[in-house]
Amino acid sequence: MAAPLFFLTFLAITCSVAWASDPTPLQDFCVADLNSPVKVNGLVCKDPKHVEPKDFFGSGLSVAADVNNSAGSQATPVGVAQIPGLNTLGISLVRFDFAPHGIIAPHTHPRATEILTVLEGTVLAGFVTSIPDNRLITKTLNKGDVFVFPVGLIHFLQNVGKGHAVGLAALNSQNPGVIPIANSVFGSHPDIPTDILAKAFQTDAAIIANIQAKF
Ligand SMILES: *[C@@H]1O[C@H](CO)[C@@H](O)[C@H](O)[C@H]1NC(C)=O
Repeated sequence: MAAPLFFLTFLAITCSVAWASDPTPLQDFCVADLNSPVKVNGLVCKDPKHVEPKDFFGSGLSVAADVNNSAGSQATPVGVAQIPGLNTLGISLVRFDFAPHGIIAPHTHPRATEILTVLEGTVLAGFVTSIPDNRLITKTLNKGDVFVFPVGLIHFLQNVGKGHAVGLAALNSQNPGVIPIANSVFGSHPDIPTDILAKAFQTDAAIIANIQAKF
């Protein structure tokens, strides 16, 4: 009697699986049908007979984005929303453009690790480890340098060179998601109650309300 129980316990322990990125595909591809009303984890597949080369194609990444905005930067994503053929494949790209002093504000990707290559200019890259250390890890990157932002950790970029900067990043999700820290905390809909943020940030409600009003 003890042997089957032991076997089941052994199975339960050894067969638990934790995905670190998007699940493995069970077919060659599952080109997203972006118009399907059906909701699944991911996106519904188009009939493979109707798949076309353009489903796997994107263009325009050689074009510098407009960086005339308050952050002085622009992120141009190339994920499943842009290339439906990326559906279920667990990979995507982002191009970054920076004006001098431009930043990509602190944010996290809930579903992906990111690996960044600097193509032009000089960029300060940083991320913060989880508690208890909350250690800030930074590196100044020049053309051709590569830096990794581990999945889920808060990270940021800043153009610290004299001219424009350009980066290209790969992420191990077709749909990495973005949680911008400032917008999520101070610009949610509806607002997180001001007294909660006042306690969390150890400051006055008036200061919190002032920040909330900016988002
Ligand atoms: C940048 O944007 C501001 C307002 O959004 C505009 O007044 C200004 O002309 C723009 N500058 C350039 C160089 O496009």
